[in-house]
Amino acid sequence: MIEDLEIQNFVMTLKSKSGYDFSEYSEKSLKRRLAKVLMDNKVDINGLLAEIKNSTTFAEKIVKEITVNTTELFRDPTVWQIVRYKVLNTFQDYKSINIWHAGCSTGQEVYSMMILLNEMGLLEKAKIYGSDINGDVLEIAKKGIYKYRFNIGYLDNFDKVIKENPLNYETYNNISYSKYFEIDKTKDHIKMLPFLSDKPSFKKHDLVRENNIFFTKFDIILCRNVIIYFNYNLQNRVFDMFQNSLYEGGFLILGMHETIMGPHTSKFEKKDQLYIKK
Ligand SMILES: C[S@@+](CC[C@H](N)C(=O)[O-])C[C@H]1O[C@@H](n2cnc3c(N)ncnc32)[C@H](O)[C@@H]1O
Repeated sequence: MIEDLEIQNFVMTLKSKSGYDFSEYSEKSLKRRLAKVLMDNKVDINGLLAEIKNSTTFAEKIVKEITVNTTELFRDPTVWQIVRYKVLNTFQDYKSINIWHAGCSTGQEVYSMMILLNEMGLLEKAKIYGSDINGDVLEIAKKGIYKYRFNIGYLDNFDKVIKENPLNYETYNNISYSKYFEIDKTKDHIKMLPFLSDKPSFKKHDLVRENNIFFTKFDIILCRNVIIYFNYNLQNRVFDMFQNSLYEGGFLILGMHETIMGPHTSKFEKKDQLYIKK
């Protein structure tokens, strides 16, 4: 069991050595992650703090381990059906569409979006940005290569979003996976085709310390399963930045268990899983 004082020491030490500030992360999930980090590194809290103080490289490794990177292709398929039929369909007449995936981890969310955009004939006019605090996950995102064996569920999700039509189950779009990715069972990989992996711009970005670094406003911002790890104050600062970074009428899409509460509620209209900037 991690004590309050231990977590405070950990956060302070990590901040002074790496610059990253976890003081406004939810204490409950931070404690859970710290317990895992201690176990994985086979050290106690004092040993961990000593190693962090001793090495910036180690401190940066711990920053990467303390955050959760779980993601998948078309995670929560019902949300992607909403994205398809209630978000992207409103952009048919636009000349360009700017999309930011904040906290995109290894990129599956970004590829899900690009596949949908392509199905709707919108990919060419889209500019796609992906960002994360962790440079290692962004390197994986750039390559767009994922393990096959652990991720067979991706294909089910693909079927639900791309092949099925929730508005009419009689129709079925028989679109092959090979249109978007190569499945190689011997190499045990799913590899996104270059027309997808070459497209997005991935950049390291810290939602705690940085503003919008992309010199543009956005039509759609996705920040899914990230703010769930933040406390109320930090969530509101991030909502403020997103609100300022969206065009009027732009969409903010959060995770299934994330909602806007507090001062920003009145600045967005909520529809299904979507927040639309007023
Ligand atoms: C659980 S993953 C979510 C990935 C994807 N959005 C999804 O929903 O499947 C959370 C991601 O947020 C990133 N993250 C955590 N704190 C962050 C911060 N301060 N700034 C930017 N990204 C952050 C983590 O590195 C991790 O890759």
